[in-house]
Amino acid sequence: MPASTLAIANQKGGVGKTTTTVSIGSAFASMGIPTLIVDMDPQANATSSLGLKKNPGYGLYEPLLSGKNLANRVLSTGRQNLWIIPSELDLAAAEFELSHQKDYLIKLRKSLSSLKKDYGLRAILIDCPPTLGLLSMNSLCSADFLVVTLQSEYLALEGLGQIVDVVKQLKNSGANPELTLGGIVMTMYDNRTQLSYEVWLEALKHYPKETFKTAIPRTVRLSEAPSFGKTIFEYDRKSPGAIAYLSLAKEMRKKFLH
Ligand SMILES: Nc1ncnc2c1ncn2[C@@H]1O[C@H](COP(=O)(O)OP(=O)(O)O)[C@@H](O)[C@H]1O
Ligand SMILES: [Mg+2]
Repeated sequence: MPASTLAIANQKGGVGKTTTTVSIGSAFASMGIPTLIVDMDPQANATSSLGLKKNPGYGLYEPLLSGKNLANRVLSTGRQNLWIIPSELDLAAAEFELSHQKDYLIKLRKSLSSLKKDYGLRAILIDCPPTLGLLSMNSLCSADFLVVTLQSEYLALEGLGQIVDVVKQLKNSGANPELTLGGIVMTMYDNRTQLSYEVWLEALKHYPKETFKTAIPRTVRLSEAPSFGKTIFEYDRKSPGAIAYLSLAKEMRKKFLH
């Protein structure tokens, strides 16, 4: 069974990418699905959200530039079925250095390819930085599916067209012919506001097949969990955020994992 690779991306910051990556990764793991999280953001929020220290020299930077196998960068998260390739601040410099290299779009894909077999992985989730630079491009070139998180707020859909165009370009140029817009997740949904509902309707109108049925509510528990280095399931598994992410994980499993 080959692993499916999902890039969780949006060029805006603070729209729930990292929260979604970590929550879906741990939900998959709890369902018995061997899962790897790749932290592609130099801010390393996914790394710290799982309670791991940022460790200079142990991230993606060096293997990404050299194109070497990533096996020795995979860390246990201390949770069954869940591994991570952590990030480090140095990754920011990799963006510039990559631009001078041949094959600069598919470095990550090359490095990841042999890993999939080694760990018997079934899902790889890549947490992208809030830009459309080379780190995000490498993530998209490694992915089977793009998952966009949309904050349920005014102008949320602005910028979605841009990332969808990037998918088309990467597909048509042959950089990643397999890539598809796999899904749109509504995050920080507030069901007391008309605005959240309108943004959701708008997403459904333009992307009826891609928009997930489960919307992630805005809840303080989801914002508290990372500061304890805990996933939402470890922090408060009965909270509305945990219930929503578990439901989203089931939708994703059905759609993306075979
Ligand atoms: N559904 C939610 N409800 C409340 N706070 C959230 C929710 N999702 C994310 N957050 C918080 O919002 C901030 C931005 O989320 P994050 O996942 O880091 O976004 P991104 O990775 O897109 O920058 C973080 O402090 C996070 O804890
Ligand atoms: Mg993030």
